[in-house]
Amino acid sequence: MGRGQTLKCTETTPLRGKMGYQEEYRESIEQPEQFWRRQAEQIAWYEFPQSILTQNERGYHCWFQGGKLNSSYLALDHHVEAGRGGQLALIYDSPVTDSQRKFTFTELRDEVAKFAGVLRAQGVEQGDRVIIYMPMIPEAAVAMLACARLGAVHSVVFGGFAPNELALRIDDAKPKALVTASCGIEFTNVIEYKPLVDEALQIAKHPPQTIVLLQRPQSQAALQSGRDHDWDELMTSASPADPVPVAATDPLYILYTSGTTGRPKGVVRDNGGHAVALKYSMKTVYNTDPGDVYWAGSDVGWVVGHSYIVYAPLLHGCTTILYEGKPVRTPDAGAFWRVIAEHKVTTFFTAPTAFRAIKKEDPEAKLKTQYDISCLRTLFLAGERLDPPTYDWLMGIMDVPVIDHWWQTETGWPICSNPMGLEPQPVKTGSPTFAMPGYDVRILDEAGQPCQPGETGNIVVKLPLPPSCLPTLWEDDQRFRESYLSQFPGYYQTGDGGLIDEDGYVYVMGRVDDVINVAGHRLSTGQMEELIGSHPAVAECAVVGIDDELRGQVPVGFAVLKDGAALDQAQMQQELVSIIRKEIGAVACFRQSAIVKRLPKTRSGKILRKTIRQLAVQDDVPVPPTIDDPAILDEIRETMQTCGIGQYAKSS
Ligand code: COA
Ligand code: AMP
Repeated sequence: MGRGQTLKCTETTPLRGKMGYQEEYRESIEQPEQFWRRQAEQIAWYEFPQSILTQNERGYHCWFQGGKLNSSYLALDHHVEAGRGGQLALIYDSPVTDSQRKFTFTELRDEVAKFAGVLRAQGVEQGDRVIIYMPMIPEAAVAMLACARLGAVHSVVFGGFAPNELALRIDDAKPKALVTASCGIEFTNVIEYKPLVDEALQIAKHPPQTIVLLQRPQSQAALQSGRDHDWDELMTSASPADPVPVAATDPLYILYTSGTTGRPKGVVRDNGGHAVALKYSMKTVYNTDPGDVYWAGSDVGWVVGHSYIVYAPLLHGCTTILYEGKPVRTPDAGAFWRVIAEHKVTTFFTAPTAFRAIKKEDPEAKLKTQYDISCLRTLFLAGERLDPPTYDWLMGIMDVPVIDHWWQTETGWPICSNPMGLEPQPVKTGSPTFAMPGYDVRILDEAGQPCQPGETGNIVVKLPLPPSCLPTLWEDDQRFRESYLSQFPGYYQTGDGGLIDEDGYVYVMGRVDDVINVAGHRLSTGQMEELIGSHPAVAECAVVGIDDELRGQVPVGFAVLKDGAALDQAQMQQELVSIIRKEIGAVACFRQSAIVKRLPKTRSGKILRKTIRQLAVQDDVPVPPTIDDPAILDEIRETMQTCGIGQYAKSS
């Protein structure tokens, strides 16, 4: 289809008179089809779905079957056609390169269409996978939207992951092409990507045949003739590609996330449910309107970056900010206030860890007074628990609502939040407020029985999950079932523990599995244990997430050595740190480990990881009734003191 030829899309229908939160929530749970049909009418389909909610042949729920749409069209062309072509779609702000670039909706549409043409010329078609391994530059968003335009499935890999992690994702997704850049910049460090990509391609069993690389001025990568192509060169001769209508149930992307083992889980996001839910969230959760400036201070490698740097703001006609910098030292702890003031940000979203970093360097937020941030209406936080000291600090310095909200890679949009655009609710400290429309959140005990209000248990969501939530794991239905649906039949197991109080406020207390959250980055301690366990001197080990003032949690390893292994503590630590750094990446922040004589276990042999975690942060650790030998707790405590772990860090 040629440029200028417009596909006929349905007109969007204005929403009915506004309901309050309780009414809207009740309708979403009791009449999900009626509710989501109305939300689906808010986006422009090529063909409106024949059915709203069905079950497919494998017994899983599907949203919007029969619908045809294109996510790139909705994010870009639709706004150009509606007269927003001259509005800024994306502002790239990069303190690390001291540069900025701005794209209107028309300009971004043209870039995306051209890069879609580049990919097509490289053989990428609908359904093909493309790995994107890029730093926080506009071309990362362009590559994602270009894949969406062709109906190809992108899989963005966070730039902080090591070659081995990239190779694991390549082998699972079996991509036709990989898009990368010559380097990323971390504070002042230039991190060359090409050697990492080359190493990953060596390790991978299914390497893609085509690499497209953007040369950045900070570092020039050597290209392998025939396989590697220069982004700029291909763009000069590319013919723009128009959006390809895809089925609502076709995958838009795969995003790998940490599970309990070394193999990451390929969360699949479909096109239809994603577009409808994200558009809905932009008003209901974030209270934004087209034309607002929305900034998610995250990375395109994480789900927050997918949903709220790239897709949702654009789907809603907002201007999005893509920030290549840090909260601190780029150049100082006033960086966030500067960006908000300079680009007139109305809605800002980041992880608590970023504010902990700012608080450490500028405890009285003096730098904030240098900027006029009166444009800001709301601050949203997610990615990890919003700890009370950070919340209190923010309450003391901010003049706008500070909203905690809870969600996961698997859902793509908030499970719980304060519905700021629907009916803001009183905040209760420590709670991300209420379940969002579409999520029937319950608390179940280990036997699957409902917990009483105020009682802690497993947080689950009664099926069906709302649109945008994962329909499955990439080519692994069995793992999808086992990971999320088997433990509590009829419910999705979130992996988080918590409670709902008598007023319906949800409290998320932390993971009930081997997943930890380090500076807002989700990592698997199970995976780290597998890697440490592969060290020839290690007989067995445990990795636990220990509370950390800046990063929320950091992983610490405890290893029992094989008899006769001649390694001292310092040597061991160095080797384990370098294994994790090499295999997972610096982002794991694995910096501490200790040799122990034995690990605390139950009589049936299960390692008591929670007890190890508690020993690192508190003095009065209850002796678990199932423990094999209570004397071991003193041994571990002593080792922690010697090695300066957790609460003993300063006294070491
Ligand atoms: N590419 C390459 N390396 C990366 C990277 C990337 N994209 N991101 C992090 N790393 C490296 C860092 O350079 C560091 O390496 P080092 O051990 O050699 O110093 C290591 O991974 C650990 O990174 P991090 O924990 O992020 O520490 P930091 O000192 O670089 O920054 C914060 C600390 C708090 C400023 C930073 O973690 C932050 O901004 N966090 C916000 C996280 C966030 O937005 N999460 C998204 C969820 S909403
Ligand atoms: P990710 O999939 O990387 O977004 O990580 C999701 C996990 O981060 C959740 O399962 C929670 O454990 C944690 N998380 C995210 N947001 C919050 C929040 N607001 N409060 C508590 N935990 C959170």
